[in-house]
Amino acid sequence: MALITFITSDNETKIVEGHSGSVMELAVNNKIKGIDGDCGGVCSCATCHVHVQPEQWDKVGTPNEMESDMLEFDDNVSKYSRLSCQMQVTDNLDGIILKVAK
Ligand code: FES
Repeated sequence: MALITFITSDNETKIVEGHSGSVMELAVNNKIKGIDGDCGGVCSCATCHVHVQPEQWDKVGTPNEMESDMLEFDDNVSKYSRLSCQMQVTDNLDGIILKVAK
């Protein structure tokens, strides 16, 4: 089980509890504004883009090549960007704070 905090671009904070599946699915199921998951999680839309807190980067690890390629097309990409459909909800993510990209 993991408690995951989402901060939207409106600075709204929502903490949700996840058990399995992807972080994108968890966000969509909990109506997190700004995470749409348009492609269904196949890494081809970037509507699930989040920024990880630098000090928590080790919890999520680096994106694979396909994810990095997709992120390159996003104007708001940062060094700590991830596509949340490529992140699995595991106990390791407990306490993580994710800022929804604009
Ligand atoms: S849901 Fe489309 S890239 Fe993540």
